[in-house]
Amino acid sequence: MTNMRSYDEEIRDFNWTIPEKELEYQPGHDINIGAYCSDRICTQGKGDKLALIWEGHAGEVKQYTFNDMRLLTNTMAQYLKNLGLQPGERICLFMDKIPELYFGFLAILKMGGISQPLFSAFGAESLLTRLADAGTAAIITQKKHVAKVRVLLKDMPGLRHIIIVDDDESKPLREREIALHMEKEARVENFPVFPSKAETPSVLHYTSGTTGKPKGAQHVHYSLISQYISAKYVLDLQDDDIYWCTADPGWVTGTSYGIIGPWANGITQCVLDAGFKAESWYRFIEKHKVTVWYSAPTAIRSLMKEGDEIVKKFDLSSLRHLCSVGEPLNAEAVLWSKKVFGLFFHDTFWQTETGSMMISNYPTMKIKPGSMGKPFPGITATVVDLKTHEPITKAGIVGLIAIKPGWPSMFRTYWNNEEIYQSKFKNGWYICGDRASIDEDGYFWFVGRDDDVINTAGHLVGPFEIESALLEHESVAESAVVGKPDPVNMEVVKAFIALKPGFQASKMLELDIMNFIRKKLSPLAMPQEIEFVPSLPKTRSGKIMRRVLRAQEWGEEIGDISTLEND
Ligand code: WT7
Repeated sequence: MTNMRSYDEEIRDFNWTIPEKELEYQPGHDINIGAYCSDRICTQGKGDKLALIWEGHAGEVKQYTFNDMRLLTNTMAQYLKNLGLQPGERICLFMDKIPELYFGFLAILKMGGISQPLFSAFGAESLLTRLADAGTAAIITQKKHVAKVRVLLKDMPGLRHIIIVDDDESKPLREREIALHMEKEARVENFPVFPSKAETPSVLHYTSGTTGKPKGAQHVHYSLISQYISAKYVLDLQDDDIYWCTADPGWVTGTSYGIIGPWANGITQCVLDAGFKAESWYRFIEKHKVTVWYSAPTAIRSLMKEGDEIVKKFDLSSLRHLCSVGEPLNAEAVLWSKKVFGLFFHDTFWQTETGSMMISNYPTMKIKPGSMGKPFPGITATVVDLKTHEPITKAGIVGLIAIKPGWPSMFRTYWNNEEIYQSKFKNGWYICGDRASIDEDGYFWFVGRDDDVINTAGHLVGPFEIESALLEHESVAESAVVGKPDPVNMEVVKAFIALKPGFQASKMLELDIMNFIRKKLSPLAMPQEIEFVPSLPKTRSGKIMRRVLRAQEWGEEIGDISTLEND
């Protein structure tokens, strides 16, 4: 039995009061995600049920029940409060996928703070951009990452506390640093949870755009309603499931469906804090008897590349439902998974901004491999004309994916940037920035992004951020960054660079520039290829035309280049 009845029945009967009632939420009353994911599950009598099965890269395993999680999040929340951190302040989580990351996320919400998770592979500059924008008051991190925080202290006078969760006292702490030894802290049995309301800010997730700095999509506690019900319906989470979300909580999938959705449903999750390796992933599924698996196309394509034989070495019979998100899931990958796992991967489409799944393939619905599926119950999604933003009624015509505002987990603004937020709405629709078409059966088919943002291995990187960082390299006069097709990662970053006089193109220089970006920004942002060019194509007003370079990489028609200057 699946949680969801037939798609048509759910669409006919659904309204948002259904999840509200299931969560016993009454409009106007308190709603705190931290408490819903821990305290409430315990009051339902599931305190002794496993909440988290964690495995580190050396194979060590730690297990926590919902009651452990309730106590640990209480303890951490009290600790943050004792430091003088106030409700509404931004507290950053900058850690690998260790248990403290998960507990810290919920603890911040319990004390009324705004959780700001950032990917631990970010370099100092990527970190600073996002902390400075958010005016972050504290950062919770690990020893191995603290060096990246230390270098930005002078630029962050408002960052009052650097909390290190794994300090071993081998070296003295420095300015503003403090060690949190969870095992030594007295367990806090009762913590006065912050009485957040539906519209109280909860999570701030940074996402990259075409121009300007990364933007902080601000979410509220009411997002729980969407995350809870979509985890129940789309991931089909049931009481005895062992669920594995492979995403890092530095990205929205890792919080909406790696923390909030599953735990609000009282489900046991497992986490693997290790890099990708086909063998270790299969072993992980076998060892922990994973039943529901939420992953991403790049990972699936990487597994596909490893072949079918390796799959047979493992007992993966526990698996019963598979879902995917983040980038286009090609039909081949869907069919391959049916062949080797006996199950289709169900594609889901959504964004940092939407907070929860918008368009999906449901357990009860016929899958058309290669399609993203249909809108979630309660979500009105369509494609609109590229120019007029009027809904397109004819099947098969490409337009912009658009969603009627008002679903619970919709972002409420971009932090300090209401203007860009407002620009995302056209003709009464929220415009996602992606192109798609809808077929005669109502299935959505992804076409591509409508901007220059690069989606590499399911992660968005902004070309502007990389171009700006490139300019800081001594040899770079100007640059343009575009996505280049890649069989596994879908796209990788490619940089076109014009050098300053006195610099010569060479393999050494190429490697030096690559490393420069990897350290400054992140491994994701690092160009996989650099092409040195004498100059870059520009418009008459001097704007670099990435479109021309991108078309060249993808072997596409270049389109209108009448505004090109140096043609
Ligand atoms: C962008 C959002 C929310 C999940 C993590 C990404 C692309 C997302 C799909 C899909 C094709 C997809 C879109 C979207 N995307 N899911 N199923 N098929 N493209 O969140 O970093 O905010 O990225 O990822 O371009 O706009 P994000």
